[in-house]
Amino acid sequence: MDYQKILNEIDSELDKGKFGGKVADYIPELADVKEDCFGIHLCSLEKGNFAIGQNEQRFSIQSISKVFALTMAYPMLGEKLWKRVGVEPSGNPFNSLVQLEYESGIPRNPLINAGALVICDILISKLQNPKQEFLEFVQKLSGNPGIGFNKKVAESEKETGYRNVALASLMKSFGNIENLVEDVLDFYFYMCSIEMSCKELSQTFLLYANHGKHFVTGERILNASQSKRLSAILLTCGFYDQAGEFTFKVGLPGKSGVGGGIVAVFPEHYSVAVWSPKLNKAGNSVLGMEVLERLTTKTGLSIF
Ligand code: DON
Repeated sequence: MDYQKILNEIDSELDKGKFGGKVADYIPELADVKEDCFGIHLCSLEKGNFAIGQNEQRFSIQSISKVFALTMAYPMLGEKLWKRVGVEPSGNPFNSLVQLEYESGIPRNPLINAGALVICDILISKLQNPKQEFLEFVQKLSGNPGIGFNKKVAESEKETGYRNVALASLMKSFGNIENLVEDVLDFYFYMCSIEMSCKELSQTFLLYANHGKHFVTGERILNASQSKRLSAILLTCGFYDQAGEFTFKVGLPGKSGVGGGIVAVFPEHYSVAVWSPKLNKAGNSVLGMEVLERLTTKTGLSIF
């Protein structure tokens, strides 16, 4: 399989101007990103690295960081984790409040905002210095100590993130948040503000293509069962109310963020990240979805 040839073909065939979408501006600091930024990085377990465009430029990974938080929290609590958060797709937008009241403050899954807030609460309870230790965990997974938070993005979301305030407060009222709501939100906003490039994201996500083992050091981060379950959650919940459509079109587990990044995993083979900041109504990168659909169509390879 000549991945570079296929990525080149996708890049030249794609009439990028033709696709719509809008850069996320509900977090003021994200609105400044140039809308025509574009990068792809595919990292294969057997064949190395393949790239297009701005694959090494860092951007705000936003919700993609929820996957790393889950990866850190899952081995700490084991299966007890699923008493605090479910594993069903929500079929609702990522920041929706509606199910939480009916379902007694237990979020549908760890990748919607409510679920990620519960995961943040768990990490705060377990860690001495949550922000620092979480950042070091992501640096270890990526093999890159240069990865950091963007304080401006985190503080900008803190000033405007009223829906997350509502989600955390509602869950606190049901007893599903142990720590102070403001501490959980502070950690959550910093977690979402991490910046990584497509290259760093695809290399880090090789962990999930490799059944929970770090792709370079061989360190076991998740056991095989945890890795299977986490990938299943990526497939069923990674794209919120578009999880069905992403699976239908692309056929790979993955995760998006409102910074315009999407990462997808082809188990035992590769991980691929795309960055294009214009989003559709569900908050997923329009071009990102298009590129990945073309990739699995042209290669004829997906999990199905
Ligand atoms: O909480 C928020 O709204 C953002 N920090 C993250 C949302 C996000 O990335 C959803 N992804 N598509």
